[in-house]
Amino acid sequence: METNSYPLVKAFYSPAQEFGLPVPATVKIPGFEAGHPAAPPINEGYVFMPEKLRDILAFWQSSEKALKIIGDPATGKTSLVEQFHARLRWPLYKVSCSPGTESRELIGQFFPTADGSLKWVDGPVLRAAREGTSVLLDEYNVLEPGESTGLNMLIEGYSIVIPSTGEVVVPAAGFKVFATENSVESSLSVVGRNVQDVANDDRFMVTTASYLPPELEERAVVNALVGDGVSPDVATMIAQQVVKVANSVRAAYRTDKSGVMTKPMTTRSAIRWARLVRRFANVNDSDGPMVYALRRAFQMNAEMDAVVTEFTRAALGTGTNGQP
Ligand SMILES: Nc1ncnc2c1ncn2[C@@H]1O[C@H](COP(=O)(O)OP(=O)(O)OP(=O)(O)O)[C@@H](O)[C@H]1O
Ligand SMILES: [Mg+2]
Repeated sequence: METNSYPLVKAFYSPAQEFGLPVPATVKIPGFEAGHPAAPPINEGYVFMPEKLRDILAFWQSSEKALKIIGDPATGKTSLVEQFHARLRWPLYKVSCSPGTESRELIGQFFPTADGSLKWVDGPVLRAAREGTSVLLDEYNVLEPGESTGLNMLIEGYSIVIPSTGEVVVPAAGFKVFATENSVESSLSVVGRNVQDVANDDRFMVTTASYLPPELEERAVVNALVGDGVSPDVATMIAQQVVKVANSVRAAYRTDKSGVMTKPMTTRSAIRWARLVRRFANVNDSDGPMVYALRRAFQMNAEMDAVVTEFTRAALGTGTNGQP
């Protein structure tokens, strides 16, 4: 990773336009001119949940350095951070943490060059600290606790000395650290999550992620379909059915004591299902195209399949052959 290679030019954006916030269009918040390679691409179909936006904006405008977003799989943790930065055209260095990720990869290390000498290369956390931009440590709690502790100084905004060069790096104003994680207590089978040490946890402001309420999830599905060229009417019809089933699956998952419902249906799966409904619209299957698409969008064992197929028929008002 090269350092300081791309100019950051301040620009101002309207939260009303970018996030759909109910504030006058004249209100602007700072971001950067478009074009920085680390600024995430905008997903026009992304729907901001007002409560989550409130938390992330409060963090953004505070002097806090680090925010952790905790939630079940696919509740929109990563995409919230990404789309927030996308709308401000703000660089976000993303790290997908793994059990083998070491703090020196995150901060920086020496690499050999062609002439045999060693060259210091900033890692993503140090780079963001130098620039006053953001870093996202995705799946933070798969990091070994010892490695996350290595980040404590920077996460709190203190300067650090690069041991091998003696250089002092003071985090620039605007430096922010985002971490996302699946809850260690999650009832979902998420394996390999570590409990970080108290000192490290204590450095983070925290918020949670949850599924979108039905009307917003429908909007997210409609946006994805319309983005694929589906007419708004058809997209709305498919979105309502898919979101209804997704919520039935979630409710059944929460109350199921028998172990049949092994997982909830995520927004990711709901969007995939909606897209496949269109693709398989003409499939001649005994269970009908909606169930055919469901089985290709969402992996289930036979028992759960039977339950979700019933939910789908109920949402569609169809009989066992997929016909009304
Ligand atoms: N608010 C939203 N608007 C539009 N799409 C959304 C929204 N939230 C989630 N999605 C969809 O769901 C997918 C999963 O979201 P995301 O990757 O942000 O979840 P996550 O909580 O980070 O998941 P994981 O635990 O698997 O890392 C996204 O790629 C997007 O397609
Ligand atoms: Mg994620």
